[in-house]
Amino acid sequence: MKDGFTVAIDGPAAAGKGTVSRAVAEHFGFAHLDTGLLYRAVGAKVLEGMTAEEAALTLVAGDLDNDQLRTNAVAEAASKAAAIPEVRAALVDFQRSFAMRAGGAVLDGRDIGTVICPDAQVKLFVTATPEVRAERRFAELAAKGFDVTLAEVLAEVQARDARDSTRAEAPLKPADDAVEMDTSTMDIATAVARAIELIKSRIAE
Ligand code: CDP
Ligand code: CDP
Repeated sequence: MKDGFTVAIDGPAAAGKGTVSRAVAEHFGFAHLDTGLLYRAVGAKVLEGMTAEEAALTLVAGDLDNDQLRTNAVAEAASKAAAIPEVRAALVDFQRSFAMRAGGAVLDGRDIGTVICPDAQVKLFVTATPEVRAERRFAELAAKGFDVTLAEVLAEVQARDARDSTRAEAPLKPADDAVEMDTSTMDIATAVARAIELIKSRIAE
């Protein structure tokens, strides 16, 4: 694989970006970066009392390895921090150098195809209805033992989507040249197979 081959996977909360990204990374041997974890790690530090700007500037790899990053409270704090231009700017270089690593890379997030890697060879925008996404996220959190209701998760997902889509800096939206995939009624195997076909066709070009 040519170095610098980049797959950008964006979309709203719990659409299946991470699941598809992990599967294609394994299939093609690409490195994978869940960029949402960077913002979640910043959000977690804000909840501990740090400013978002300071948290983004001092982030280290170990900060990403934390089970508590999955909670609704951290997701909300992440989304608030992610609207601050200085926070986004502090995280750009790390994401871009990850995208250029040898052997290809897949990055998933909100602005990978639009801002971080506008020249990515493959851009996928994964969506599903808010209700389906909330059910998926609720099942995930409940399985991990978090004390949360479906209604709370739906409200959190909708509030975060609205904030992420309407912010001035790097809003959540499909790149003009992204392929959109609605997984509302699609199982994981089908979503992964479609992503793999798309990537294969771009590799062949
Ligand atoms: O990364 P993102 O927040 O977009 O979503 P995810 O963590 O990949 O997926 C959220 C949950 O939905 C996971 O538990 C997946 O197993 C599940 N999922 C699903 O049921 N059907 C799909 N087509 C994709 C994901
Ligand atoms: O897993 P889920 O899709 O629910 O969220 P995430 O990907 O972990 O992202 C958490 C929050 O970080 C999002 O709601 C966005 O506000 C922010 N984010 C962002 O602004 N840009 C990215 N590239 C990734 C995440």
